[in-house]
Amino acid sequence: MAALKVARRSAIPPFIVMEVMRAANARQASGGDVLHLEVGQPSTAAPRAVIAAAQSALASDVIGYTEALGIPVLRQRIAQHYRDVYGLAVDSARVVVTTGSSGAFLLSFLVAFDAGDRVALADPGYPAYRNILRAIGVEPVGLPAGTATRFQPSPELLDQVTGPLHGLIVASPANPTGTMLDRAELMRLAEYCSRRGIRLVSDEIYHGIAYGKTATSALSVTNDAVIINSFSKYFSMTGWRLGWMVLPADLMRPVECLAQNLFISPPTLSQYAGVAAFDCRDECDANVARYARNRAVLLDELPKAGLSDLAPADGAFYIYANVGRFTNDSEAFCKRMLAETGVAATPGIDFDPNRGHTSMRFSFAGATADMIEAARRIRVWLR
Ligand SMILES: Cc1ncc(COP(=O)(O)O)c(C=O)c1O
Repeated sequence: MAALKVARRSAIPPFIVMEVMRAANARQASGGDVLHLEVGQPSTAAPRAVIAAAQSALASDVIGYTEALGIPVLRQRIAQHYRDVYGLAVDSARVVVTTGSSGAFLLSFLVAFDAGDRVALADPGYPAYRNILRAIGVEPVGLPAGTATRFQPSPELLDQVTGPLHGLIVASPANPTGTMLDRAELMRLAEYCSRRGIRLVSDEIYHGIAYGKTATSALSVTNDAVIINSFSKYFSMTGWRLGWMVLPADLMRPVECLAQNLFISPPTLSQYAGVAAFDCRDECDANVARYARNRAVLLDELPKAGLSDLAPADGAFYIYANVGRFTNDSEAFCKRMLAETGVAATPGIDFDPNRGHTSMRFSFAGATADMIEAARRIRVWLR
């Protein structure tokens, strides 16, 4: 038989955190204990009213397809969220409901960029950005962001890029560092992009999870950006696979056509349930209060274990630690830590292919008792 072709773009690197999670689960399945500081997902269920709304939809609806852009009541509720939280008037006609923010990345990258385009993003950053871009033939251009810019992109870093740029992806709060862009910084980036015809994509998935700072939406500084958000993190709904975008007018119809063809519609049950999420702020804020306690535990304890070079965790639920004192192979370090202490965390190479071999990400989305115990074990192990 003649050799069958495998497309070049199928050579996408794995999302390493998912592989760490698999190793951690295997350890658990064979009777070992694991403290899960690897995966970035809340350990809590969806808010109670969301679950009740899902139950009542199951009882009364056939759960068929919906419009590709999402059910109107949810799109309106999302638009209202921008009025309530940011004081911004958003027309629900610009809102697209998606299959998690992951679905939003695929749709927006496909309509905003052509194969061969180049899109800048901060290193370290969320690995799926670069992997999705690669899968659709777009070249990710890593900006070596460090402490000088709080691990965020800046016009100065963009100026150092040689060759053309067609897009810039920002995330505030960011994964894995938790750092945030303030309004003035976002505005400078938006102006930089607008002057050069660079499409700005703002991943706002960690909005609502911040410690003493308030996140600014890129929507408050420009109407030209792709705004992406999700029910996964603040609303504690990772498995419901529900997210949304607010799009500039020129991208609405192309996204609608693509969504019809790729997905038909976002998950219907989750859409009905998601409408209720916006009225559950007390429950969601109680989760954020727990993250704040967890963050305080790790910020206090990790330096005692010798991990004192930590990114300023302004928001999200991650601490990005420099482990260069102990290793220059974060993946091996991570495997050894899991095997010898039962603490699962994520190696920095997942987030920064060039410099991540001396960094680790600890997620503090879990239970406070787990953070205390994990910090104790790491301290004993590194001693
Ligand atoms: C920065 C960032 N964006 C997007 C996602 C994807 O989230 P979802 O597809 O569940 O909305 C994640 C998940 O960890 C993330 O950290």
